[in-house]
Amino acid sequence: MATRLEAPRWPARLDLLQSGTGLALGLFMWVHMFFVSSILLGKDAMWTVARFFEGYYFFGRPLYWLVSMLVAVIFTLFVVHAALALRKFPASYRQYRIYREHMQGMKHEDTTLWYWQVVTGFALFFMASVHLYIMMTRPDRIGPFESADRVWSDLMWPLYLVMLFAVEFHGGIGLYRLALKWGWFAGPDALATRRKLRTFKWALTAFFLVLGIATLLAYIKIGIEHAPNYGEHYVPTFLQGSAP
Ligand code: HEM
Repeated sequence: MATRLEAPRWPARLDLLQSGTGLALGLFMWVHMFFVSSILLGKDAMWTVARFFEGYYFFGRPLYWLVSMLVAVIFTLFVVHAALALRKFPASYRQYRIYREHMQGMKHEDTTLWYWQVVTGFALFFMASVHLYIMMTRPDRIGPFESADRVWSDLMWPLYLVMLFAVEFHGGIGLYRLALKWGWFAGPDALATRRKLRTFKWALTAFFLVLGIATLLAYIKIGIEHAPNYGEHYVPTFLQGSAP
C-alpha cells in the first residue's frame, strides 16, 4: 500500500477559497458604493439604478425576486468567507494576549493592520447580516424615498455609519494583503512595492469613506424631509403625471 507523503492540500484550498470570496466581496463593495451613491446625482438617478436591478427595463415591470436572489448570492459568499476566516481568529484569550503583546512589541504596520482586519471582520458578522437580511426580504423598499426612510426614520444610519468604516477598513486591508500574498503588482524591490501598495490602499479607503459619508448625508437629508410622508414610494419626475 502506498504511503502518502505529500502535505495535505485542504489548508491551501481553503486559503484559496477565502482569498477568492474576499476578492469577490471586495470588488462587489466598490461597485455597490457607486450604485448606492447614485443618490448624489439626484433622486431620479437612484430610482433608475434601483429599477435596473429589478429587471424593469427588460421585463417592463419590477421583478423584486431578482434583487433577493442577488442578495442571497452575496449573503452566501459572505457566510463562506466569514466561516473560513474563523480559522484565523485567536481561539482563546491566552492566544489573543500573546498576539497583542507580540503586536505591541513589534510595532510593525502590517501586523497591526491584520489585528484591525480581525476586529472589523468580527463586527461585520453582525452588522452586515442585519443589512443583508433587510435587503433580501424587502427588495421592494429600495429607492430614493424608501432607502432614505429606512436610513432616517427606521434609524439605520448609526449602523450604516459604523458599518461603512468597518467595511472600508476591512476591505482595504484585505485587498492589500491579497496583493502581497499572491504577489500582484510585485516589482524588483519588495519594500518599495509594499510602500506603494500601502499608499494606494489608504488613498482608496479615504476615497470610499468620503463618498460613503456624502452618500449617507444625502439619504439623511431626504429622510428628514420625507419623514412626514414615511412609506410613500418615489415617482421619478419623468413619470409624474402619467398613469402608474
Ligand atoms: C446584494 C447585496 C446588497 C444590496 C442590494 C445592498 C443595497 C444597499 C442599499 C440600497 C443601500 C442604501 C440604503 C438603504 O436602502 O438601506 C445600502 C447602503 C449601505 N450598504 Fe449595502 N447592499 C448590499 C450589500 C452590502 C454589504 C455586503 C455591505 C457591507 C458588508 C454593505 C454595506 C452598506 C453600507 C455601509 C451602506 C451605507 C452606505 C453609505 O454610507 O454610503 N452592503 N446598501
